[in-house]
Amino acid sequence: MSRNFDVIVVGSGIAGLSFALQVASAGRSVAILTKKNRADSNTNYAQGGIACVTAQNDDFKSHLKDTLEAGDGLCDAVSVEEIINEGPARVKELIEIGVHFSQLEDGSPSLGREGGHSRRRVLHVQDITGKAIESALLRATARNNHITVLEHFFAIDLITQNKLTKSGFAVRNDGDGVIGLYALDVLKGRVEVFRAPVVMLTTGGLGQVYQFTTNPDIATGDGIAMAYRAGVEVANMEFVQFHPTSLYSSTNDRFLISEAVRGEGAILRNADRRPFMKHHHPLADLAPRDIVARAIDSEMKQSGARHLWLDITGHPEEVLQSRFPNIFEVCARHGINMATDLIPVVPAAHYLCGGVRTNLSAETSLPGLYACGEVACTGLHGANRLASNSLLEAVVMAHRGSLAVTDYLKKHQPESVALPEWVDGDAEDSDERVVLSHNWDELRRTMWDYVGIVRTTKRLERARARIQNLRNEIYDYYWNFKVEPRLLELRNLIEVADLIVQCALRRKESRGLHYTLDYPEKLPEATNTTVLKREL
Ligand code: SIN
Repeated sequence: MSRNFDVIVVGSGIAGLSFALQVASAGRSVAILTKKNRADSNTNYAQGGIACVTAQNDDFKSHLKDTLEAGDGLCDAVSVEEIINEGPARVKELIEIGVHFSQLEDGSPSLGREGGHSRRRVLHVQDITGKAIESALLRATARNNHITVLEHFFAIDLITQNKLTKSGFAVRNDGDGVIGLYALDVLKGRVEVFRAPVVMLTTGGLGQVYQFTTNPDIATGDGIAMAYRAGVEVANMEFVQFHPTSLYSSTNDRFLISEAVRGEGAILRNADRRPFMKHHHPLADLAPRDIVARAIDSEMKQSGARHLWLDITGHPEEVLQSRFPNIFEVCARHGINMATDLIPVVPAAHYLCGGVRTNLSAETSLPGLYACGEVACTGLHGANRLASNSLLEAVVMAHRGSLAVTDYLKKHQPESVALPEWVDGDAEDSDERVVLSHNWDELRRTMWDYVGIVRTTKRLERARARIQNLRNEIYDYYWNFKVEPRLLELRNLIEVADLIVQCALRRKESRGLHYTLDYPEKLPEATNTTVLKREL
């Protein structure tokens, strides 16, 4: 028995919800599968905002230039231009569905500034922009009766014409296409078959592959891993962005201190409490993120300090509280008053610039499979994403994807081929819990220590060997045991960790977010690192 829809969306962040609303408005039946609650998405954690040209003193050319500069020669100029140019129309739609961006007293938009931007252009809702957009989209989704939101459904793998069962892998050929997917009903502990001619991946990023990340627990690279296993092209996985300023704590938790705080005048200070960013870049504390994160890493290594400091003292408390209510409150919970105390900060894994390769219609290399948002690689970010360009990309590409999918559905009916039920393994092992939690920690530590801000070939090779061991152990559980979310997430994390290392080993230069001591120079020609799994 399968459940049938026109379109299945995996993930319920800004990309998935915007896309679903637009496809549903064309009368199509849409299922949104989300592995936790509908509001558990990366979008909710986006503080900074959405970069978009709206100010009188701004123009598309300047946004384009800043994006290309941050991307360090690897952006696709056409993608950059088209995505930036479409921003204002998509932002207008967000306002129409009820997103109230912060305004100045005269009613004009309050625009934030962040690293790499030559001027103020980031629309925001105080420091909870993602949450405000997500709530508005969820309200609109709830009103649409073509959309079914299925919470606690964990998408496991795509079903394509050449991959029909848990174990029935085959090499892709040109006739392949999406038929549906398997998803675990987490509450019932049972795998269900979903049939649809279109699957849209909007699963967000993979920050949980690193020991320290600003991302929520759900960011386990699920969509990229699924796509890769189905033989879909994945690109530029080595470009993992480390946010320079997360709140230091003695646990693994890393709360984001938005770059917008530096946009309002905060400066970084080293262990001796001296400013240092002016020695690294003309934009000093507002340099692109790769440069700031590397400068912090180098200061920390030189001094042996566990963290550096962010200083926004001297700004009136009521101003900080009104502009950054969320950050102010979290700092206060840690005993820090932003107006009078320095904030202890460290870099943390934040955003993946690579992902499932798509064109500007969100189409992947597999017919019927689309990807949008952080899971996708459109060429906008190149080797380093410009701050707050991600929400922009998500809304623009969701819109473009919806147009492409509506067109695709006119020509493609659901496949009538019978889809086999999932067969779970029945093995049991009292060590399973211990092995899963050990491997989870080992993977994240390995990635942090060997595949972090500064890399070497030797460290990457060490990481690769360890990931291979972890993979063998986890696949034993996957094949022979009943699947459950923690196992499925770890299987995906191992897949994406391996992809990051594979891509990093293939890049024989330092560019943007990929910095290796073995190849410190940039090659004259910028090329993408593409990976395609041929032997499935
Ligand atoms: C931030 O607020 O610093 C993060 C925004 C982003 O990652 O674009």
